Amino acid sequence: MSLDLNNIKELDNGNKLVGDLEFPPRKMWVKTYGCQMNYHDTERMVSHLKPLNFSLTDKQEEADFMVFNTCAIRDLANQKFYSHLGGAKHDKAQREVKIAAAGCIAQTESKALLKKYEQLDFAFGTDVIDNIGEMVYRAYAGDKKFSVTSWDRSDDYSIQTKVEPGKPQAFVNIIKGCDKFCSYCIVPFTRGREKSRRVDEIVNDVARLCKYQGIQEVTLLGQNVNSYGKKNGESLAQLIMELEKIDELKMIRYTTSHPYDISDELIEVHGKSKKLSNHLHLPVQSGSNTVLQRMLREYSIEHYLERLDKIRAANPDIVISTDIIAGFPNETEDEHRATLELLKLAKYDFIYSYNYSSRPGTKAAKMDDVLTKDMRGRRLREIQALQLELQAEVRQEMVGKTYRVLVEGSNTMKGELKWKGRSSCFRIIHFKPETPESNYKWHWVDLKVTSVTALSCQGEIVKDYGKTI
Ligand code: 5AD
Ligand code: SF4
Repeated sequence: MSLDLNNIKELDNGNKLVGDLEFPPRKMWVKTYGCQMNYHDTERMVSHLKPLNFSLTDKQEEADFMVFNTCAIRDLANQKFYSHLGGAKHDKAQREVKIAAAGCIAQTESKALLKKYEQLDFAFGTDVIDNIGEMVYRAYAGDKKFSVTSWDRSDDYSIQTKVEPGKPQAFVNIIKGCDKFCSYCIVPFTRGREKSRRVDEIVNDVARLCKYQGIQEVTLLGQNVNSYGKKNGESLAQLIMELEKIDELKMIRYTTSHPYDISDELIEVHGKSKKLSNHLHLPVQSGSNTVLQRMLREYSIEHYLERLDKIRAANPDIVISTDIIAGFPNETEDEHRATLELLKLAKYDFIYSYNYSSRPGTKAAKMDDVLTKDMRGRRLREIQALQLELQAEVRQEMVGKTYRVLVEGSNTMKGELKWKGRSSCFRIIHFKPETPESNYKWHWVDLKVTSVTALSCQGEIVKDYGKTI
């Protein structure tokens, strides 16, 4: 097999000659599960396969190549994937289609998946996404049932960001992996060790995207972006201040953070940066110090609240959100109530909350556990009900204020056409167009908020700046 992916020839019949194989135009379909890291990995896969004549379809039934980009964070995500992959057996029986599993489940279970699901052609892990071209070539060259789950052993992490054409927003990986090993979490096993890109590389990368591909908003991505650059003597705060200098760039977001690592330097940047989003997602997981200890989270609630106070003092407009796990092994009623108390103190704009799910290989999975599914379910419902009440109050302060948003699209709500966009503080605001024909896609607009509920926010247009500000 000979292969040079830098030397692909376009043939007169519309096929691409890759090595000694012809690739006719083919459709790829991807089902993505889980977090933004996975969604961005999917974008990378699609972009790598364009030169091999693949184009993306959202219709599974017309796909020549299917990829399941999986998530292992909770058992529910695993079960969804197994069921969808099971269903793909019919597609395989009916037509010529290649099927691959990627992402976090594939990283740790590839061999078992290939054995159990005969419809699966190959599986690959999280650290070889950028080699998808070679794997697809192998599959079409006749290689069967192979898996690639190796880790990149080099100290460097160097990539070029891939973006979707026509969209002014880009995800930019800045750090991969996680060294935290929280006791409940499978991520360090599925995404490997922490490795950061260099500030210089990222700044050049983003400047290129802004200049030549119309990018105006970036979301810096990593499992724990607050650890960014530590091993290279660099920091997230430094990166943000460098990115801030790129004229065409209007908005900088980052996700996701760890409360232990959120530095004074970064908090200061939240106060002084003109382009950094007024939103911070700071996962707390539990309001109880004893649970936090069992989770190996490395901080106390006192530390967490002190960080919130400091960040709110630095930027009074900042909006905070969090992640909560209900029913960590042996969580007592008092420990659960401490989480409810925390919600009242922290005043979150929204939360993502989940029942604890035991993950094979993690420390928490080895703990004896007296909680039942019902107890966990009840606690989660209590957390969510309280948060909805608090959230309605927190959001009331938006009424009458004007927010600048980048308009992402429109939809029909109760028979009425509405456009929507996200504010700097990450809230979605809906508004009526001035005329039914008005097209605001990717415009920057100022919206004055007229009404809010816990889950939705309505505004009216004050000013339309067009496609750039
Ligand atoms: N069970 C439930 N929720 C989990 N999370 C991570 N691991 C688990 C687990 N085993 C949640 C955490 C994390 C978010 C991405 O997923 O709240 O912040
Ligand atoms: Fe998982 Fe903890 Fe790492 Fe977040 S910081 S990815 S919860 S191990």
